[in-house]
Amino acid sequence: MVAVAVITGGTDGIGRGLAEEYLRRGYEVLVIGRSERKGRAFAGIGERAHFLSADLSEVAENRRLAEWIAQRYPVLDVLVLGARYHRSARVQTVDGFESNFGLFYLSRFLLSHGLVGPLSRAEHPVVLNFGAAWQTGPVRWDDLQLERGYHGVGAMGHAGRLNDLLGVSFVDRYADEGIRYVVNHPGVVVTSFAGEYDHSPVTAAQVDQLRVTGKSVATAVAQIFPFLEPPAAHASVVAPAGRERLTAVLEGERVPLDPGSRDLEDARRLHDITLKLLRMAA
Ligand SMILES: NC(=O)c1ccc[n+]([C@@H]2O[C@H](COP(=O)([O-])OP(=O)(O)OC[C@H]3O[C@@H](n4cnc5c(N)ncnc54)[C@H](OP(=O)(O)O)[C@@H]3O)[C@@H](O)[C@H]2O)c1
Repeated sequence: MVAVAVITGGTDGIGRGLAEEYLRRGYEVLVIGRSERKGRAFAGIGERAHFLSADLSEVAENRRLAEWIAQRYPVLDVLVLGARYHRSARVQTVDGFESNFGLFYLSRFLLSHGLVGPLSRAEHPVVLNFGAAWQTGPVRWDDLQLERGYHGVGAMGHAGRLNDLLGVSFVDRYADEGIRYVVNHPGVVVTSFAGEYDHSPVTAAQVDQLRVTGKSVATAVAQIFPFLEPPAAHASVVAPAGRERLTAVLEGERVPLDPGSRDLEDARRLHDITLKLLRMAA
């Protein structure tokens, strides 16, 4: 049977780089994004390349997508969660969530949990989520929707931290399903830096600087791929013990996770709050 990879944000940047790599390795690859133009360009590469258009900032779209994927691919080997969109100003999604919370975190929550069934049927399933890999500060528990002092870059960093905790609660909850979860911070990578930026010269200079200092997509893909390989192939990189379902990676280096930290407690707390928010939004 042909292995399957589903990649959100696979129409551009690092997601697109990973999508091409999985195609080269013989996978059936479905990328998800909003741009028909970019999606069709990817799907035109070959018969194993597919595109589905969805706005992942919407809760209903994520639910629809998870259902559709589960029907179309009852066995799912790889799930990459990479859609993002920078906003200098605070914006709310149609469901009333702060946009980074909605797209960068909640979409990934819904797809991770919504696709456990198909993932658990694969031989070596893996989820790759782009998070902060423990490089940012604590969760703003009293202001999860960033209503006070919003800052675009800070909002992405905060959502990254939420994704770290999503990884923690995922492996805790599905300890027996054999699904590995990799939380990756790629460092600065030259991609589209898609988003809505303020028009200040300072912001423009910062983005220009990122374009000069960032690494290529090819380098970012090469740094993360060893951590996605089935255990036998990457045994020297990641200890294969059963409890090692979660791996945090920063620019190709494994980040040690502190077993004595409050992460599990925080992760369970975030999980419960997220379910409550979803119920309220329904
Ligand atoms: N690049 C960096 O320096 C850097 C640094 C740290 C972390 N990361 C992380 O790495 C991951 C990939 O980043 P990247 O820089 O490669 O991204 P990118 O080039 O900006 O591409 C973003 C992707 O997200 C999709 N997307 C945006 N809004 C969407 C929406 N509402 N619904 C569905 N899809 C949407 C875009 O698809 P369409 O255009 O088709 O809508 C595109 O495929 C992200 O999680 C990012 O946070 C990147």
